[in-house]
Amino acid sequence: MNLRDGEIIATMLEDRGLSISDTLSEADIIIVNTCAVRERAVERALGRIKQLAGIKASRPGVIIAVGGCIAQTESDRILREAPFVDIVFGTRKITNLPDMIEKILTNCTERVLDIGEGDVYQEELVGYRFSPISAFISVMRGCNRFCSYCIVPYARGREVYRPEGDILKEAIVLTERGYKEITLIGQNVNAWREGKRGFGNLLERVADETGVFFLRFITSHPANLTDEIIEQFSVNKSLAPSIHLPLQAGSDRILKRMKRGYTIDYYKGLIDRLRKVCPHITITTDIMVGFPGEEEEDFELTLRAVEEIGFDGAYTFKYSPRVLTDASRMPEQVPEEVRLERLRRLIEKVQEVGLERNKMRVGTLCKALIEGNAKRGGLKGRLGSNQVIVLAGDAKVGDIVEVRVKEASYWTLKGEIVKGS
Ligand code: 5AD
Ligand code: SF4
Repeated sequence: MNLRDGEIIATMLEDRGLSISDTLSEADIIIVNTCAVRERAVERALGRIKQLAGIKASRPGVIIAVGGCIAQTESDRILREAPFVDIVFGTRKITNLPDMIEKILTNCTERVLDIGEGDVYQEELVGYRFSPISAFISVMRGCNRFCSYCIVPYARGREVYRPEGDILKEAIVLTERGYKEITLIGQNVNAWREGKRGFGNLLERVADETGVFFLRFITSHPANLTDEIIEQFSVNKSLAPSIHLPLQAGSDRILKRMKRGYTIDYYKGLIDRLRKVCPHITITTDIMVGFPGEEEEDFELTLRAVEEIGFDGAYTFKYSPRVLTDASRMPEQVPEEVRLERLRRLIEKVQEVGLERNKMRVGTLCKALIEGNAKRGGLKGRLGSNQVIVLAGDAKVGDIVEVRVKEASYWTLKGEIVKGS
């Protein structure tokens, strides 16, 4: 979502005659888009912002704006720790940013702070995009779920769904311009609805209207993963066979304290249904260790769940207390060294299970979308499984090629192109 917001900001400023600078030293306006999901992200962002002090001192005319989730939830901290910042804009004030910049340009002594409610949507049909072949389309924003550890509902506000007509229009224009991959995005993407129509119907409509090669969506909540959506994995020709479905923990006791709204058995039931309609579906997840009150037995249930479910991959996190959240006020905080130790064991398990699953792909034939050159030679392709594959052979960005998988590690696959598009 932050990447997409970056594209929207770039589009709006290009419309006002500005252009994107390749280096900070040449930029007249520096915009920092921040994430607050874990404390480490906040520290890194504040570190980067503070580094801008030197630029501001040598070129006082430079405008520095900070937006995103830290701006929304801890604007006072930004103003205190980086007093040279000119603009602090909230997550629902993105469309106002060009006006705020103009205000500073006409009266550069004032600082602008705006983190109120506001317009959430002013999406551009194409505008500035980071990639020429793969695009994000925002379909909803915000989250109503209030998982007890999560800052998102406070940082992004309540759920707002974008009208279906606008989403379809954007998807059609993008595919007409040659985009091969569309990812529908939202903090709780599968909660999208319009009247009686839910997210499953939206997936069907986007595929029917565009015939896009890869259609994906992130991020889903298990409690909102309806049968209608699961069914799409068997009937929708565009929908890529992969899903990211955050589990968070393998212990019902912890899931309840997290206010996740499902049990481990319910989650496993979803996985069974997904694999029934789409046997080769790739399933990735998010898992957190050290949530307040997590005991060794709870953690072992998480390890067991990783093994039993057989995730293809997982983003693993150490619980980080967030301002405003219920979990940050729970008395049973787990000591840092225990959290670190569990994280290490979890990563080991995730990689062991993921590697086994990747090895099963060796020898298979599949389609890949060429994204560019790989860092250490060869081409970089993306599979329907959403995995990256390093390829030998000849093709250009945006080509869809048939490939054979030849080698697998946890992180990447290697293969060769057997047929061009
Ligand atoms: N501490 C650690 N990880 C968190 N996440 C969200 N909030 C926290 C937190 N307070 C993780 C969840 C979520 C992912 C995007 O970030 O696993 O799915
Ligand atoms: Fe945060 Fe996701 Fe829970 Fe919403 S559903 S509160 S974004 S973890």
